[in-house]
Amino acid sequence: MTEYRAAIVVGASSGIGREIVRQLAARGCRVAAVARRADRLAELAAEDPDRILAFSHDVTDYDAVPGLFQEIAHRLGGLDLVVYASGAMPEVGAHEYDFAKDRPMIEVNVLGAIAWLNQAAIRFENTKRGTIVGIGSVAGDRGRCGQPVYNASKACLATYLEALRNRLARHGVRVVTIKPGPVQSEMTAHLHLKGAMPAAEAARRILAKSGKTGEHYLKLGHRVAFYIIKRIPSPIFRRLKV
Ligand SMILES: NC(=O)c1ccc[n+]([C@@H]2O[C@H](COP(=O)([O-])OP(=O)(O)OC[C@H]3O[C@@H](n4cnc5c(N)ncnc54)[C@H](OP(=O)(O)O)[C@@H]3O)[C@@H](O)[C@H]2O)c1
Repeated sequence: MTEYRAAIVVGASSGIGREIVRQLAARGCRVAAVARRADRLAELAAEDPDRILAFSHDVTDYDAVPGLFQEIAHRLGGLDLVVYASGAMPEVGAHEYDFAKDRPMIEVNVLGAIAWLNQAAIRFENTKRGTIVGIGSVAGDRGRCGQPVYNASKACLATYLEALRNRLARHGVRVVTIKPGPVQSEMTAHLHLKGAMPAAEAARRILAKSGKTGEHYLKLGHRVAFYIIKRIPSPIFRRLKV
């Protein structure tokens, strides 16, 4: 498994991001934990004060990102991994078209990712090394009835990351897209998902897969299933009502 010395995790106050911070710190990595909830971040940093640094930040404050990125890299004394895990997925009814709910999904899942990962790309292209990890979703593989804008946000993120990967591969930089299926977290608690993966297990698999540039599902079954699902013709997919 790839060892990292200094990392930024954006979306670190709960769920998958928080578990990634814990597991990186346990392996000796210094980690900047970024999210809005300062109390949660302070609790996390208290678990390993020598290795976990808390930075309270709203990813929709796009103008603040370049300065904060530089400050964090300076405080960490280097940087070899940036993980973008921030995400929003409000409940959306089957007949609901509410721009107020749709907007934060694009602002957090897409624009926040671009603001942070552009900074990572600039730095790693110059240093000729580094790993960028974006947490996408299987939900981005098709436009489904249930969550039109969440699906669209994750599809956009996946395409942006693919383009970064194609730009940065020649500079020795890894760009990793992770497409989890259901994971137990605050985002999904109200859905009572059957068979959802514990967040700590998802984090373990994400870090294991971060060593290989490309797009990764967390389970072989998902890789096979979505290979097929992506190829179902639209007129048939529409009738499935998924
Ligand atoms: N759970 C699943 O089944 C599942 C499946 C596939 C993909 N994913 C993706 O995995 C990622 C992590 O989600 P999770 O399941 O771990 O959910 P979670 O526990 O709700 O974590 C979401 C994280 O995003 C942060 N965030 C939200 N809005 C933010 C903002 N404006 N500024 C900064 N940070 C913000 C939250 O921190 P604050 O609220 O403190 O800011 C929190 O740390 C997301 O991208 C999600 O789309 C989840």
